[in-house]
Amino acid sequence: MPNAVIVGTQWGDEGKAKVIDYLTEKSDVIIRFQGGSNAGHTVIVDGHKFVFHLVPSGIITPGKVCIVGNGVVVDMEQFLKEVDDLMESGISVEGRLMISNLAHLVLPYHKAIDQASESSRGESRIGTTGRGIGPAYADKVSRIGVRAGDLYEWDIFCEKFKAGFASAKQKVELLHNAPFDLNEEEILERYSKIRERLLPFIKDTSYYIFDAERAGKKLLFEGAQGTFLDVDHGTYPYVTSSNTISGSACTGAGVGPLSINHCIGIVKAYTTRVGNGPFPTELTDSTGDMLRDVGKEFGSTTGRPRRCGWFDAVMVRKAIQLNGISRLALTKLDVLSGLSEIKVCTHYEIDGWRTDQFPPNTQQYERVTPVYNIIPGWKRDISGCKKFSDLPSEAVNYIKQIRELCYGIPALIVSVGPERSQTIEVDGI
Ligand code: IMP
Repeated sequence: MPNAVIVGTQWGDEGKAKVIDYLTEKSDVIIRFQGGSNAGHTVIVDGHKFVFHLVPSGIITPGKVCIVGNGVVVDMEQFLKEVDDLMESGISVEGRLMISNLAHLVLPYHKAIDQASESSRGESRIGTTGRGIGPAYADKVSRIGVRAGDLYEWDIFCEKFKAGFASAKQKVELLHNAPFDLNEEEILERYSKIRERLLPFIKDTSYYIFDAERAGKKLLFEGAQGTFLDVDHGTYPYVTSSNTISGSACTGAGVGPLSINHCIGIVKAYTTRVGNGPFPTELTDSTGDMLRDVGKEFGSTTGRPRRCGWFDAVMVRKAIQLNGISRLALTKLDVLSGLSEIKVCTHYEIDGWRTDQFPPNTQQYERVTPVYNIIPGWKRDISGCKKFSDLPSEAVNYIKQIRELCYGIPALIVSVGPERSQTIEVDGI
């Protein structure tokens, strides 16, 4: 397999981790390039459930090297927790897990700003995960951030931490009018203790990636969240604070564009969204409840129920365009089993006009009415299907509809359940 980047084509939670796990077998180095512990990547292997927020999910495959790239904002305490959980499950990360020295840190004061900012927004809150992601990226671009590499020199780390802490205290107390009850000394004490454990993971990972590629190793770039949470191209302001699209893999890993040959877009067979913001195909009826229950659509980071709706081809077409997607991976097809009919949104109507394009701003997007094709569903359980030919004809028809509506881009795999084994290969790449 050539070097590939994996992205979500909707609002995140498309089941990327399962596809990453599948493609990890064909890769050598797996690199996360954006986001932070707002992500929740779940992989189930032989009934054992692993949930990752920061560590690339490829780590569960023996021998693979995993990198937390410079574009990620890293909560070091969360990172160590995941390392401990892996060790408890008998998975050694020794020598095959690295954090870029340039990755910015999410510190406890970022979470305090995130939570205070959400509270002060009231009705217009974003519905963030509360993990401090936005404030950490804000400090990065304001050039007052603290980076993983700063931990090498404790004095420098303390100096930067104290400046960030003071700025956060002002924001929380003066801007958001909220109490700021963090104890600077106590946090520094905690970091001084974990620092020794963290240092061996911190490397100039861009050199490692460059050398690995020159040595013929295959790279897999692991995106988090989804295209419509991208800070530029998503449904702003109801987005996350990083670029989630494939182009961000270059800046977030420190590679040039020619290092990526292939982009795989993960598409859930229906649509979900966590947090606030417009969602044209949302179902607030019993079908939406069924999708949530059967699809276990509850956030793996916050446990919040996800909003559920029909498949939206306008979104996925836009995602194909923005990411340069060469193959799709269709996930959670099994969740639709039992429905007598399934709706697929093909176009939008805005202010009486029909369009096949994504509207240019969120105000217009809020006024969108979806235009649907209604196609027959299938009754039987498909979670045991191993080959394409095992699927009922209605399910095959649904896959074909999606392909037709999405520029004819074929699916690489179709997932019919959370287990590794519940994956139908459409063909190899
Ligand atoms: P933040 O990334 O915590 O700032 O949250 C901003 C928006 O992105 C909120 O609507 C979150 O629910 C959403 N979000 C962040 N990470 C994920 C994810 O991994 N899956 C789905 N939604 C996410």
